[in-house]
Amino acid sequence: MEKEIIQWIYEAGEKIRTAIRQETFVVDQKSSRTDLVTDVDKSIQDFLADKIQQFDSSATILGEENGQDKTPIDKGRVFVIDPIDGTLNFVMQKENFCIMLAVYEEGIGQLGFIYDVMRDDLFWGGRKVGGVYHNEDLLAPPPNKRLSDGLLGMGISIFADNYYHTREIGERSMGVRVLGCAGLDFIAILKGIQIGYISLLSPWDYAAGSIMMEQFGMAFSGAEHQPLKFQDRELFIGLTQAAMDDVIQIIA
Ligand code: IPD
Ligand code: CA
Ligand code: CA
Ligand code: CA
Repeated sequence: MEKEIIQWIYEAGEKIRTAIRQETFVVDQKSSRTDLVTDVDKSIQDFLADKIQQFDSSATILGEENGQDKTPIDKGRVFVIDPIDGTLNFVMQKENFCIMLAVYEEGIGQLGFIYDVMRDDLFWGGRKVGGVYHNEDLLAPPPNKRLSDGLLGMGISIFADNYYHTREIGERSMGVRVLGCAGLDFIAILKGIQIGYISLLSPWDYAAGSIMMEQFGMAFSGAEHQPLKFQDRELFIGLTQAAMDDVIQIIA
């Protein structure tokens, strides 16, 4: 299954790079001036959904666009799609965005894929393949650093609001980084150049990344150490085990 998925993602990436080269995409507002969607987001989700349906007609799809955002995660095989993660970066920077895809079976995360489209860089893996890969290379788990020893990715609004002690947590780290693309934060964690990521996220934002963090024995949760709900937007906390212990002390 992973070989097929990687092929779909590479094809989808090429479609996005072509749209950028030809400057052919149309931008719309969703909930606000800064919450954007383009026709490319929608068409890439359709492209991936078609491939999935041809591959496994019994699978269901949970995706950000096209009214597919309410599918439950816990029944049968579910493919979770974020066709462009970091749409604002896609529109404003034409780089620093990802395609993300994850596979769940009966609610258990099996495979995650995060593709940095403009750098042509793929991170993928999970329990189904027993490891995490950077393109074709098996990755070693990142060092188990304390909160005070590493950089931390965060959503800017929760940092500013000190939502669930987020500002205190950020100030105890070596520094806060705001990338505007959840997928790039997860890639930074998997590479070991960031100790974690804390943000308000939807299931398609954290599915692929949390599957690969789990494979590395790292820690993640929703607010107040509750399991993630895989429904609406919620606080996501993903860290090394040692940094999670530090964060639990701060919150207590
Ligand atoms: C967004 C990005 C952003 C994060 C938001 C997400 P989208 O995804 O990952 O970094 O802070 O919470 O919604 O909407 O561009 O796919
Ligand atoms: Ca969006
Ligand atoms: Ca996203
Ligand atoms: Ca998106």
